[in-house]
Amino acid sequence: MKQQETILVLDFGAQYSQLIARRVREAGVYSQIIPFNASLEEITSFQPKGIILSGGPATVHEPGAPQPDKELRTLGIPILGICYGLQVLAMAYGGNVSRPDKREYGLAHLTRRSESVLLDGIPDSSEVWMSHGDAVDSLPEGFTVTGSTENCPFAVLEDNQRSCYGVQFHPEVVHTPSGKRIIENFVRGICGCSSSWSMGSFVEQAVAEIRETVGSRQVVCGLSGGVDSSVTAALIHRAVGDQLQCVFVNHGLLRKGEGELVQRVFRDTFHMQLVYVDAEDRFLSELAGVTDPERKRKIIGKIFIDVFEEEASKLGKIGFLAQGTLYPDVIESVSASGGPSVTIKSHHNVGGLPENLKFSLLEPLRELFKDEVRLLGRELGLPDEVIMRHPFPGPGLGVRCVGEVTPARLHALREADAIFIDEIRKAGLYGEIWQALVCLLPVKSVGVQGDRRTYEEVCSLRAVTSEDAMTADWFKFPPEVLSRTANRICNEVDGINRVLFDVTSKPPGTIEWE
Ligand code: XMP
Repeated sequence: MKQQETILVLDFGAQYSQLIARRVREAGVYSQIIPFNASLEEITSFQPKGIILSGGPATVHEPGAPQPDKELRTLGIPILGICYGLQVLAMAYGGNVSRPDKREYGLAHLTRRSESVLLDGIPDSSEVWMSHGDAVDSLPEGFTVTGSTENCPFAVLEDNQRSCYGVQFHPEVVHTPSGKRIIENFVRGICGCSSSWSMGSFVEQAVAEIRETVGSRQVVCGLSGGVDSSVTAALIHRAVGDQLQCVFVNHGLLRKGEGELVQRVFRDTFHMQLVYVDAEDRFLSELAGVTDPERKRKIIGKIFIDVFEEEASKLGKIGFLAQGTLYPDVIESVSASGGPSVTIKSHHNVGGLPENLKFSLLEPLRELFKDEVRLLGRELGLPDEVIMRHPFPGPGLGVRCVGEVTPARLHALREADAIFIDEIRKAGLYGEIWQALVCLLPVKSVGVQGDRRTYEEVCSLRAVTSEDAMTADWFKFPPEVLSRTANRICNEVDGINRVLFDVTSKPPGTIEWE
């Protein structure tokens, strides 16, 4: 790949490392997260224009506290330390860190103390978001204090001579309104980056890279209709055209209209080679009588792989398997024990593929965040109905049909789900919600419709807001939207006579019910 301007984020185990990388990219500069203990060789191999030391949960004084390579400072590359990163820098340059009587969590008021490159263009007094136990308590040699808060005299430190900078607060979070400017000041003003990284340039580079990797071989891509696999397919198609063959497995657990949407977009609009496999009967007969959530997932995952492999083997000699793996799935983060570890949401690999694959993996989205994938999708001409879709799990309605999965129950669930999504769209709320879904519960309740007593199934509506699906809160619906949805479901869907609304956050609940 052509060498691009890169800012490295050294991850000391912060909750916010990914956010730092995102903010840098939003400033138009490519950024990559690597573990705090990356070797000098690894660091220099990126030819970084700047290095950001992230925050982290450790205390600099504790034995084994994470430290970057001692020689990092000798590279002459500008460094910005954030929170724990600042403390590491301060200690390295002869300052001291202690635990103040008053710790700071939440909003604090930052006051500028002197001329500052990092705070250039920021009001003399601004709000910043703090989250720390320790703080720098004596000035490291060569540094100037350029900003402080009520309880943190050394909130911003700068040493222009050695291009070393640090902030005790978190510029990467939205609660620090001038944080964006601080990151821009660092990457552009201090590191001299040109802000040329954009989705357009990503497409160009990725296309060239895919062509080079794939050569004249064939690629197969499992298309689910979700954002990640759709963008993966569109990008690879842009690069190698008909050398890409997509396989869409209809497992009978899809939402209403989903199979048609995928065929319309990919076959009719993009003219991609698409194999549509109707495997509904096979999945549903294996699922008959199964109620245990883990068994359901295992069955669905296993048959998915079998079907996919059977279809792929009919396609001739395949060199690559394309997957929509995203950056958060591959980032090496730092575990609580201090050692780097790979974060994988294991159950989310359902619908993924076995380890003993015959092909090499092609994962062109490995460097992107979800919102970047959406931008990329738009750049590639995918319609909003695909790009802006709520996430939908690999096992589909199988994990939303709590209890036994039967064709009749799936039908009721599919119809109820379509009504809920329709009402959300009509109310203009679809884009505000991370994910909305209906679950059919294994419970029956008594109702009355007309003069008739009914005894039918119960469904639960769930809609959440979230940044990354790791945590979520329930969406505060206007009551009339819930009311319309409930009325329509009871009136229009055979077999459901009661509708509940789920107000559980995550944690303790998960987003899906199973
Ligand atoms: P939970 O239910 O664990 O889900 O809060 C978090 C997010 O992941 C989605 N999800 C899955 N996605 N295969 C997927 O591709 C799966 O097996 C799977 N299970 C959950 C879920 O919809 C939510 O967005």
